[in-house]
Amino acid sequence: MTAVKTETVTEGGTGHPLLEVRDLHVTYGSGALAVPAVRGVDLRVDAGQKLGIAGESGCGKSTLALALLRLLPASATLRGEILLDGEDVLTMKWGRLRAVRWAGASIVFQGAMHSLNAVHRIGDQIAEPILLHRPSTPAAARRRAGELLEQVGLPAARAAAYPHELSGGQRQRVMIAMALACDPRLIIADEPTTALDVMIQAQILRLIERLVADQDLGLIMISHDLAVLSDTCDRLSVMYAGRVVEEGPARQVHENARHPYGSALSAAFPRIGDLSSRHAPRGLPGDPPDPAALPSGCTFHPRCPVALDSCATEDQELRHAGQDRRAACVLVEPGAVTASGPHGGAEESRSIS
Ligand SMILES: Nc1ncnc2c1ncn2[C@@H]1O[C@H](COP(=O)(O)OP(=O)(O)OP(=O)(O)O)[C@@H](O)[C@H]1O
Ligand code: SF4
Ligand SMILES: [Mg+2]
Repeated sequence: MTAVKTETVTEGGTGHPLLEVRDLHVTYGSGALAVPAVRGVDLRVDAGQKLGIAGESGCGKSTLALALLRLLPASATLRGEILLDGEDVLTMKWGRLRAVRWAGASIVFQGAMHSLNAVHRIGDQIAEPILLHRPSTPAAARRRAGELLEQVGLPAARAAAYPHELSGGQRQRVMIAMALACDPRLIIADEPTTALDVMIQAQILRLIERLVADQDLGLIMISHDLAVLSDTCDRLSVMYAGRVVEEGPARQVHENARHPYGSALSAAFPRIGDLSSRHAPRGLPGDPPDPAALPSGCTFHPRCPVALDSCATEDQELRHAGQDRRAACVLVEPGAVTASGPHGGAEESRSIS
């Protein structure tokens, strides 16, 4: 048997990537009612790196995010490995897991700005995890809450406000301050800007970018909007029906996807600053599949504009699709060279559009 040596980047002297997910499966329920929401996902995030996860509604993005910190309901079963700084979250004891949920990694939940407690001042809500997970006094925790508010662009005096006294954008800043409260090394942001108008959305995205850069954090940002992710993140993973079907450098995936689903998703969102993409055909016929009744073969084949007959029966693994890129499509030919990419340069591997 040949041993395969995987590349490991040393982070902060620990010898591990910040997060490494290996062959993660999540299934809700069991038996005839089983919903396989995540089906064998591999991910990796290093300190200071921003990974975007894209995909249509129901493809398993939030399930994946919640699985990373074991925040799923009891009906979910998990299989695989989630290595946070080399330590497997799936086998952690409860006490260790509680500490890791704030100090190792923290989540800004989808729609979370609506879940602040209406009857408590926001300063107290930010101070609460500090008191629980850090050696701190109430006065020191309150001071820290004020500093965190300033870090996210709100005056420390707003600590005395109740959630209803803040705008949606301000409440989302509070959620980010709360996520930073115990100095996590990884932030998982699940659709952090979806409910906000475009101006506030841009402000929040720049804020997250600045915080990640200043503190050398890892970031996983989840969105259905490939344009937002490619503008914010270094790398992109595109999910379809519970699997990653394409991954690579964010801009390359957005501007020249290798997988037909990546292309369709990309066409659905105009590229920032590219007027021609605004007039390109967009949208994808059909709906994403029901995870409880997935199509055979390549799960994308019923919607794929370039499917072959064999696609209805043959499943596709992620394969090499150019430098630092992988895609799960039979049409991806590693090593082939197309005449020009979107910027006129020769590109390795076949591009499908
Ligand atoms: N608690 C649950 N019990 C059973 N099925 C669930 C549960 N939560 C999610 N699912 C199913 O798992 C699949 C993935 O859901 P998930 O919320 O992860 O998708 P998503 O990609 O985050 O979608 P969206 O973009 O709409 O937020 C969906 O089919 C969903 O119906
Ligand atoms: S494997 Fe076939 S159906 Fe799947 S994306 Fe590629 S061409 Fe389309
Ligand atoms: Mg979701």
